[in-house]
Amino acid sequence: MKVTIVGAGAVGASCAEYIAIKDFCDEVVLIDIKEGFAEGKAMDLMQTASLNGFDSKITGTTGDYSKTANSDIAVITSGIPRKPGMTREELIGINAGIVKNVSESLIKYSPNVTLIVVSNPMDTMTYLAAKSTGLPKNRVIGMGGALDSARFKYRLAEAMDCPQSELNAMVIGGHSDTGMVPLIEKATRNSIPVRHFLSTEKQQEVVEETKIGGATLTKLLGTSAWYAPGAAVSEMVKAIALDSKKIFPCSCLLDGQYGLNDICIGVPAVIGKNGIEAIIEVELSEAEQLKMKESAEGVRGTNNLLADVI
Ligand code: 2OP
Repeated sequence: MKVTIVGAGAVGASCAEYIAIKDFCDEVVLIDIKEGFAEGKAMDLMQTASLNGFDSKITGTTGDYSKTANSDIAVITSGIPRKPGMTREELIGINAGIVKNVSESLIKYSPNVTLIVVSNPMDTMTYLAAKSTGLPKNRVIGMGGALDSARFKYRLAEAMDCPQSELNAMVIGGHSDTGMVPLIEKATRNSIPVRHFLSTEKQQEVVEETKIGGATLTKLLGTSAWYAPGAAVSEMVKAIALDSKKIFPCSCLLDGQYGLNDICIGVPAVIGKNGIEAIIEVELSEAEQLKMKESAEGVRGTNNLLADVI
């Protein structure tokens, strides 16, 4: 199993680190445009192999896509991260051109690759990658929902003072401060609905904190987060590599599911060796349906900007 990670910045390096430590794939290639940067990160990570006990081989390259040839999976983290006060959507002007070029360079050397898109605005960048590569729609996946669901569990666990491992909860919709739809009505702690433990006000607070999860971290860190994004990607890569058929909420190109067409947006999907093996259409309450519809309108608005920027 060969995995390429485009962008050796904080998110890319964190993906590489978690993938290496979990030790399920033999080769990880880091690629970056900054001279020597990916090589340096790869060398630093390789010097942890005997300490962390992994056998995966990590290499780095400055922009040489031939080194990524025959990758099974490629993760796109390239582009600029948001700064405090910025929305993810504001990054489209710079990131769209980068993501388009990167996607096209990747498939030139790895025509059968499965892409996982992390760059923001994530749903629109996933749509762009799907359209510009012409890859089958099961092989282009946006990471957002896996991360947002992990942040949802963090907030739920904090509110209920319980271990995160007891929770089952997911966020669908767009990966944006306004577009996320945390499915609080369906969230459970050991199969018990969370409304048993949390007042309506507290549930609403958890939902709001989840939606601004990325912005909260950007404010604290001065740039966008990397550990949880890296961990979320590594779990998705692992599900593909091991064909585990786990369900992740993630951005998928829809053709009719949830009443939506020609849009990439977060929905629960079974992830395995073919990328998106199936999209699960869960029954949504009226309130959830309305939020999903509004979220899709937001994503479409951002997709419409693609015509102006690439
Ligand atoms: C985040 O929410 C990177 O968009 C990502 O932290």
